[in-house]
Amino acid sequence: MDGIRAGLECISGSRYRHGVTPAAPIGTDVVHAAQLLRDGDVVGMPTETVYGLAAVAFDERAVVKVFEVKGRPSFDPLIVHLADAAQLAQVADLDALEAGVRGQVLALAARFWPGPLTLVLPKVAAVPDLVTSGLDTVAVRVPAHPMARALIEAAGAPLAAPSANPFGYVSPTRAEHVAQQLGHGVPYVLDGGPCDVGVESTILAAPRAGVSAAWTVLRDGGLTREALEAVLGVVLADATAVVGRAESPAAPGQLESHYAPRTPLRLGRLPALVSEAGGARVHVIAFREAPAGLSADVLSPSGDLGEAARQLFALMRRADTLGVDLILAERVPDEGLGRAINDRLQRASAGGGADTLRHGS
Ligand code: TXA
Ligand code: MG
Repeated sequence: MDGIRAGLECISGSRYRHGVTPAAPIGTDVVHAAQLLRDGDVVGMPTETVYGLAAVAFDERAVVKVFEVKGRPSFDPLIVHLADAAQLAQVADLDALEAGVRGQVLALAARFWPGPLTLVLPKVAAVPDLVTSGLDTVAVRVPAHPMARALIEAAGAPLAAPSANPFGYVSPTRAEHVAQQLGHGVPYVLDGGPCDVGVESTILAAPRAGVSAAWTVLRDGGLTREALEAVLGVVLADATAVVGRAESPAAPGQLESHYAPRTPLRLGRLPALVSEAGGARVHVIAFREAPAGLSADVLSPSGDLGEAARQLFALMRRADTLGVDLILAERVPDEGLGRAINDRLQRASAGGGADTLRHGS
C-alpha cells in the first residue's frame, strides 16, 4: 500500500493548483500517447462518455500521478478500461462469481461492450490496490470511442482512468476542457472530438456471495436501467440512497457533492427559483424552454434526453464563466438517461459554490 500512502501525501501536500496553469498539448497522435503511457506517464483520453485521465493500470507509479494531477483522494477507486472483453481475465476473477452470475456478466459484456457500462467484479491480484483503493473488486469497462480502444491496444495494457477533471468539478466532454484544467500535469491530451454520450458510464455491481445478493446500480449513467433490466430480467437494486455520505472504501464514489461548478447551482422549479433569487444575477439551465427575459441555455428544445446529456457538462462549464451569482436549473424527466442527468444536477447543487469543500470523482 506504499502507492496509496504516496498518493495521499501528494494530495494533502496540494502540489497542484487548478485553473491557473498552462494548457497541455492536444493532438490526435495515438502512437505518441501510447509511448507516454508505456513510459509511465499519464494522458488525456477521449471516451464516448467523458474524457479520462489514463495511466497503465499495472503501473503503480503512473496511477499515483493520476491521483496527484486530479487532486483525488486515494480512497476513491478508478475504472479500468479494456480494448475488448477478451482482456477481462487480466483484471477480473470471473471464477470467484457464482456460475449464474458469471453467465450474466458475459451476457452484459456481449450486449453492451463497447459502451457506457462499468461492471464491478472480483479483482485479480495483479491489479494494484491503489487502483481499487484496497477493495477486492475492480470496476471495468470497454469504452466505445475507437481512439480509446486504439490507445489501450497500443499501450499494450488495460488503462486505469478517472474522469479528467479536478476532483469534484464538472467532467470534461472536450479535449480543451482537459488541457485547460489539468494542463499542469498532463503531457498530452488525445483529441477525439466532443463526447457522444456526455455523462459518465453506468456503474453496476455484480452479486457476490456473502456481500450482496442483488445486481446493484452504484451510479446512473450513459446506459439506462431499462436496458440493463431487459437483459438481466430483474429490477435493479439502488445503492445511491444508502451510501450518500459515505467516505469509506466500502462505498466509494457516491459522495454527495460532485460534478459541481464553482458558481452555486440551485435545482428546482424555475419560477420559484427565479423569485427566490431576488436581485441576484442568475443564469438558467432549462430543459426544453428558456424562461423569458433571463440569461439562459436550453439542454434540448425537442426534449431529447440524449441531446440533454450531451450538452449538460458543457453548459454547466459555460454557466460558470459568466460571472453570475447563481446558476438555476430544472430537473428533466426521471426516466432513461434523465436519471443520470438529474443525479448530476442534484450533486452539482449540493456543493454550495466555490468556497465549500466538495467531494467527487
Ligand atoms: O464514463 C466513465 O465511467 C468515465 C470514463 C473516463 O470512463 N470515468 C469515470 O471515472 O467516471 P471516475 O473515476 O470519475 O468515476 C468512477 C467511479 C467512482 O465513483 C468510483 O468510486 C467508482 O467508479 N468505483 C471504481 N471502482 C470501484 C469499485 N471497485 N467498487 C465500487 N465503485 C467503484
Ligand atoms: Mg468523475
